[in-house]
Amino acid sequence: MSAPIVRSLSDLRGMVARWKQSGETVGVVPTMGALHQGHLSLVRAAKEGCDRVIVTIFINPKQFNNPEDYENYPRTEEDDARKLGPLDVDAVYVPDGPTMYPDGFATNVSVGGLTNVLCGAHRPGHFDGVATVVSKLFLQTQADRAYFGEKDFQQLQVVTRLAADLDIPIEVVGCPTIREEDGLAMSSRNLLLSDRARVWAPELNAAMEELAEGLLAGGDAADLRAQAVARIERAGFTDVEYLDLRACDTLEELTSPTRPARLLAAAWLAGVRLIDNIAVG
Ligand code: PAF
Repeated sequence: MSAPIVRSLSDLRGMVARWKQSGETVGVVPTMGALHQGHLSLVRAAKEGCDRVIVTIFINPKQFNNPEDYENYPRTEEDDARKLGPLDVDAVYVPDGPTMYPDGFATNVSVGGLTNVLCGAHRPGHFDGVATVVSKLFLQTQADRAYFGEKDFQQLQVVTRLAADLDIPIEVVGCPTIREEDGLAMSSRNLLLSDRARVWAPELNAAMEELAEGLLAGGDAADLRAQAVARIERAGFTDVEYLDLRACDTLEELTSPTRPARLLAAAWLAGVRLIDNIAVG
């Protein structure tokens, strides 16, 4: 059986008001659809932590800096509803464009600092789009908790910051990245990889693991990084946008893992932009 779809904001609000009147807690899992096991793990975490669970599906045009990327983004609503069926979620909220951005919409939520680096530096406007839509989804769903994957580590920091800064009464919960058996981080974008590219894609994670081990063993950061980039490029990746060691909390660049650190990467493989990150130490 497919999960119940809610398209209108007033229906969603009515539903949530009834739950809240009965003292039930509400969890939200914001997604852009093309659901995979990573998303489903967030839903399971939400089911464990909350009485009611809403999954949102909205392919947010404001966070795509490239119109072609938006056009090509996988759209699989029926499949998504079928995948959510067995998880027994309370609502799948699928607003349309005008519900999210009615005529005259003029507000932009912009989180400073954290968004100047990594994906923020390479995808102008991306995090403003994310912050704007996530703020709306938090306010529309009135959820008590929101579940995000660590796969989008910078996004997780940005939405945590915005909820705190705007006093939105929601707890942002980060959940571990789910990987394929060969190490490739699960992502909706993996659907866009050709069979051939899919074979090479796990090299990104393999090179990052090797680099992390080298850093923990006290190796030279610049040499190790150059070797990792060469390995990624040998696998057919054409543009390594970044491969950085950064502090978990501030995302400031580090040369060695002297405090809780994360290795983060973005690279292009056969026209598909893949990102990944791993804890170091
Ligand atoms: O991670 C995503 O799928 C999106 O960035 C999000 C959080 C649903 C906002 O559109």
